[in-house]
This record gives sequence, C-alpha cells and structure tokens, in this order.
Amino acid sequence: MPIEIESPEEMGYSTIQYNLAESSVRDRTIGQLGIDLSSVLLNYGHHRGLPELQQAICENSSVLKNEHVLVTGGAAQGLYLIANTLLTSEDHLVVVRPNYGTNLETPRGINCAMTIIDLSFENGFQPDMDEMRQAIRPNTKLISITHPHNPTGVLFSQDILDELVELCETYSCHLLVDETYRQLNFKTPLLPYLAEKSDLVISVSSLSKAFGAPGIRIGWIVSRDATLQHDLLAAKEQMIISNSVVDEYIALQILLQKEKLLKEVHNTLRTNYQITESWLQTNRSILEWMTPGAGAVVFPRIKESISVDLKKFYHRLHSHYQTVVGGGHWFEQDMRHMRIGFGYPSANELTIGLKNIMNCLKNCSIK
Ligand SMILES: Cc1ncc(COP(=O)(O)O)c(C=O)c1O
Repeated sequence: MPIEIESPEEMGYSTIQYNLAESSVRDRTIGQLGIDLSSVLLNYGHHRGLPELQQAICENSSVLKNEHVLVTGGAAQGLYLIANTLLTSEDHLVVVRPNYGTNLETPRGINCAMTIIDLSFENGFQPDMDEMRQAIRPNTKLISITHPHNPTGVLFSQDILDELVELCETYSCHLLVDETYRQLNFKTPLLPYLAEKSDLVISVSSLSKAFGAPGIRIGWIVSRDATLQHDLLAAKEQMIISNSVVDEYIALQILLQKEKLLKEVHNTLRTNYQITESWLQTNRSILEWMTPGAGAVVFPRIKESISVDLKKFYHRLHSHYQTVVGGGHWFEQDMRHMRIGFGYPSANELTIGLKNIMNCLKNCSIK
C-alpha cells in the first residue's frame, strides 16, 4: 500500500502557510475545549467503548442502543476492521470512487474481487444505480460508499440512498457508509446515521473532521447486526484490546458540548464557503465545480480548454506559494481536479491561498 507522501503531515506543516488540503475544520487544543484530565484513571477501557460515549454517539435515536456502537481508533481503524471482518479473497465488493484511501487499499490488500464504480462530474457525482445493480455478483459481500461524499462534498439524493439500502437487502450484502463528514452539515439538517435504516447498513464516523480533534483517534462503527458487532469486537480486541481511556474521556467531553461547537463550526463553514464560491464564480472561465451540500471541501476541475503543466502547478503551489490543495491524483482522479478544503484555514488564509492557486495556474499555463 502506498504511503501518503503528499499529505501535509509528510510534507511538514512548517512548509505550508496556506493549508487548503485538509478536509476538516481547524484543530483545537484541550485547553480551548476546557477539558481537565486530572481525574482520568489510566486503566484498560471498556472493550466496546466507554458506555457514556457510546450513548452520546447514539444521539437520542429511538432505534440505536449502546450495543450497536463499537468505538474505534478513528474512522480509519473502523474501516480497516470492517473490510477485514467481512471480506476474504473469495469475496467481491463494489466500491464507489472517489473514496477514502482505506476503502480501496484495504480490500486490495485482502485481494478480494472489486468492482469500482466511478462517479463523474457530468453526473453530478451521483452514483449510477443501473451500473451499481449490474455490478452485484453472487459473492458480493459489501457495497462501499462515502457520504457526505469526499472529495466533492456532494450529498447523494434520498432516492439513491434508499435504493442502495434496498439493493443490499435484495442481495443480502452489507452497505458500508463512511459518514466521517456527517456533522459538517452546514446547509441542511443533520441526517440520521444510515445504519438506522437496516441491519445490513454499517455507518462509520469520527470526531476528526467536524470537531477539530483528529489527534485523539476516536471514531465509531454503528451497526445493528449483532453477529457483525461480535466479529468486529473480536477483531478489535486482537488489534488493540480497548481504546485509550484518555482519548475516550476527551471524546465524551467534546460530544457533551457538541451543540455549541457545531454551531461555531457551521458558521465558519458558511463564511468560508462564501469566500470560496465567490472566487469560483470570478474564475468560472477557468474552473468548473459542483456546489457541495455538506463537508468542508469542494472539488473544482480546471476546464479542458485550459492548458496547464499540472505536475509543475502542484509542485510550484507548494514550493513557491506555500499553498497546498489535494490534487485529483490523491483520489485516483484526473489531476485537473483539486480538492480545496475551506474549513481548516482562517478566512484570511483561505483568501490568500485561493489567490495563490490562480496565480500559480497562470504561471504554469502552456501557451
Ligand atoms: C472519508 C474519510 N473516512 C475516514 C477518514 C479517516 O478519519 P479518522 O481521522 O477518523 O480516522 C478520513 C480522513 O481523511 C476520510 O476522509
């Protein structure tokens, strides 16, 4: 599996002044969150996760109970556990791309058969349900999507979500919905976890993107399938036994103040998206884009009519302008696409970073 050589962590945060590569909001300190860790007992934690945390994750749902939640080391570990629990080299999965790296790389590592359904700009990044249906095989164990979608920020239509659930029920396979961006719903009411809809749906989420706390590595799997929950817990126990009790305590304190935190986050996203949208509109002769419905990212494309040395563009954007975006190649897409994260930078950093992108594109254009 490749390592993320172009991630800000690998490039070094000190070399980046205008970080438009993140898909999250700005990271917070424990002090900003007002959390006191002095009473935390450093024991092994509950294997399934701190019960109060499981309860907070259920969000007063009338359907979900603590036993439907497994706390994991970020969404990333949850996704890894799911693939390794459900898939063997004899199985097949259908994966909608672009998708988060783990959702492609872990099945590749397992060496199962995989049908990739590519979303297209022309189709508004909505999955083509005929293609999905045709991809199902007798040994299909899993369909895998990310929703709200990364890197486009697009929300799939309710009809498509309903059809995906129906498809899984018809063919008795699981539907994995990576809902890591769910709480970045700055335009719409919060959608319930899709796992509420069926025992065959698995939702995965975390505190990394909406709460600025990726460093505590807390995520969760929501599934009402008792057999799957058992198998996932067994796999987690082999891997880590329990989560860090410090991380779980911080996670709980964050969720206890989530209304206030999310209000601030959504306000920032609205302001910063306006800045981004007006920049896109000004440059609409060069860029085309789908307006995001949620998340903290937009995935514009440099129009085909514009000739650019794309490798030079990404390299120079970092080396000369200290600005980073997520190139389309990060997501196995054409380099003409770039993911712009508008939730992480301050309004000022975003404004300068966006200007830098345009200046750099002009510098790298081929006449
Ligand atoms: C779609 C998606 N899923 C999962 C993750 C991993 O998140 P976490 O920090 O919760 O492990 C990411 C992080 O970029 C992501 O974009």
